[in-house]
Amino acid sequence: MRHIVAREVPIAPLTTWGVGGSAETMLVPRDAGEARNALKWLADTRSSYFVLGGGSNVLVADEGTTLPLIHTIGMDRFRVRVDAETVYIDCGAGLPLRRALALSLREGWSGLEFAAGIPGTVGGALLGNAGSRYGEIGEVVERLQGVDSAGDFFEIDGKDVSWGYRSSSVEGRGWFVCAVTLRLRASTPSAVRERIAEVLEGRKSQPTGRRTAGCVFKNPEGDSAGRLLDAAGCKGLAIGGASVSRTHANFIESEPGCMARDILRLISLCRTRVREVFGITLLREVKAIGIPEDLWNEGFA
Ligand code: EPU
Repeated sequence: MRHIVAREVPIAPLTTWGVGGSAETMLVPRDAGEARNALKWLADTRSSYFVLGGGSNVLVADEGTTLPLIHTIGMDRFRVRVDAETVYIDCGAGLPLRRALALSLREGWSGLEFAAGIPGTVGGALLGNAGSRYGEIGEVVERLQGVDSAGDFFEIDGKDVSWGYRSSSVEGRGWFVCAVTLRLRASTPSAVRERIAEVLEGRKSQPTGRRTAGCVFKNPEGDSAGRLLDAAGCKGLAIGGASVSRTHANFIESEPGCMARDILRLISLCRTRVREVFGITLLREVKAIGIPEDLWNEGFA
């Protein structure tokens, strides 16, 4: 079947910050075959593209973007295989991480507890090796499948991927990840529940019920961006509808009416403050869609 192509799609409702304009073109494949067709279509039009998953780690320009977006929302199926004590969940890239976690809690499968409270999709989590101090997704990836930049299907084992702090060698290669097999182990629902409670306890210092994109900056080696931002006096700083969380300084909250440019300026202000006080340039975890590169990278070299 042919993938769905939609025009002038508002992106804000598809993101956790809820800001930004429209995508001129959005492709919505529902399986690997449709994904390959979508990528071929883009290759024919010589377009690069951006993959949008759960929208929990992106800042979309107020002007929107002419760059085609591939949205993984249609690829949210999963299948389970059990082999003795090992449980494999084949997840579509667009499956929300919290759905995989809910399934593992219900069935008593251990390994994904670290992901409690992490928004986004399995595919997005994989690309940036999402995690917390309790673990990272790279540790439980058995295999992944997708379409490479030449439009061919590929499969690769999790152990052949280099997993870094909030990074993976899957990123930046022009690969489109269609499916991820997670490797969990049989446990009990109560043991999994207990571990999840522990992980959530560790997240108590983070804002809840607010529109955020998770942590804005990566932690520099051996330190915490939140601690640095806090000590540099960033908590409560506000520009337009964007403000630095008073709960945890590495979160930016958006209020109704917030613009992408408010968030962009606030990120820049926070980075400047930390640089002035500590001489450290924080790197961002958040990705930009439609924001001109010079504007996005100003001061982040
Ligand atoms: N701190 C402050 N002020 C703040 C925030 C933190 O002084 O405003 C201090 C804390 O008191 C603590 C230290 O900084 O001593 C570390 O803070 P925290 O325990 O909150 O951990 P973090 O390093 O800020 C990391 C991840 C989170 C993850 C938590 C829990 C990054 C950038 N952040 O936060 O991940 O949930 O550990 O495991 O790696 C994310 O990546 O989006 C994210 C939220």
